[in-house]
Amino acid sequence: MTKIGVVGGGQLARMMIPAAINLGIDLQVFAEAEQSPASMATTLVGDFRDTSEVVNFSQNLDVLTFDHEHVPTEVLREVENTGVPVFPSADALTLTHNKIVMRERLEELGAPQPRWTVISEQTDRESALAEVGGFPCVAKKPVGGYDGKGVRVVESWSEIEDWLAEGSLLLEEKVPFTRELALLSARRPGGEWLSWTPVETRQKNGVCSEVIAPAPDLDPSTISQSTELAGAIAEGIGIVGVLAVEVFQLPDGSLVVNELAMRPHNSGHVFTELSQTSQFEQHLRAVADLPLGATDLLQPRGVMVNLFGGIKTDSKARAWTLAPEAKIHDYGKSPRPGRKVGHVVVVGADAESLLARAEEVRQAISASS
Ligand SMILES: Nc1ncnc2c1ncn2[C@@H]1O[C@H](COP(=O)(O)OP(=O)(O)OP(=O)(O)O)[C@@H](O)[C@H]1O
Ligand SMILES: [Mg+2]
Repeated sequence: MTKIGVVGGGQLARMMIPAAINLGIDLQVFAEAEQSPASMATTLVGDFRDTSEVVNFSQNLDVLTFDHEHVPTEVLREVENTGVPVFPSADALTLTHNKIVMRERLEELGAPQPRWTVISEQTDRESALAEVGGFPCVAKKPVGGYDGKGVRVVESWSEIEDWLAEGSLLLEEKVPFTRELALLSARRPGGEWLSWTPVETRQKNGVCSEVIAPAPDLDPSTISQSTELAGAIAEGIGIVGVLAVEVFQLPDGSLVVNELAMRPHNSGHVFTELSQTSQFEQHLRAVADLPLGATDLLQPRGVMVNLFGGIKTDSKARAWTLAPEAKIHDYGKSPRPGRKVGHVVVVGADAESLLARAEEVRQAISASS
């Protein structure tokens, strides 16, 4: 039986478990703590920054993959040196460790991007600001940001003096987008590549709150543009596994890349119910070098809403009575303000009524927002 190891015991590893069972794959999780969302498949608890612990975990695996992008490059290279395949590779994952490195690589690949520059305490501020079109612009910490932490819209330098004191920042134009889209796809080692339909992501306070799939009012040129863009990026970086390309759509319909994620992504959760193949199944197929599953949709539309903060005790049964068609994914995380603790998916025909339905469920079970 193919043995796949996953570093990280979060919700993404958790959602790989049913996919692994259905594929007949032995999934082994290396988690940071005894109690984690993926504890059902955890075979080792340890520190993913420790080379010997990760190398020990990966012996006897057919392939090593991830639930997050934080494993240091040196650790990944050591595993690769022992002959165990690591997908996505250390080379590819390095891009996701630093948003400046990612922008540089995307530029080499010729991908359309927002205007951007790098700023430090030594940089000439006026010329940096001119490069991104002036205030307001967007400052990003190159390392360690997630869920909008590490991203600030700034109108004056005083708003980022604290960050500049810590090191260089990525500065971007504030893109006047009409909406945000994500294009999920997966690639096998030999180059077989398959995408899902583009989805629309809606953020609140910089964090993804809702996803609609397919994105409403998709014209053929948006579909072909986003598919070509994601395909070129996947090939260019030689990704193996799921790749999420987050893009901004401009008023003229064109697209610019916000960022990449090299793993199953929040914007792709809707495909578990909506598509013939979930992103978790596809990720496992891709890293195990198995033929990819069909990405056709089973229903015209699906929506996903995230659950933040906590899930009220005993509320799920009530929600299922209210909306028996809703799929509630509870990550088994302890509550904390703003924390993503689960999501709800509803599939059907009409985006607005599906959103309203999913929102009803969210209201019924969210302990807080
Ligand atoms: N240049 C920009 N112009 C306008 N809005 C932006 C820009 N960059 C980021 N944003 C907004 O901030 C959100 C979060 O930014 P980004 O995706 O870079 O951060 P993140 O913390 O890595 O996000 P996540 O991990 O949740 O995907 C984006 O989804 C978008 O709404
Ligand atoms: Mg993002």
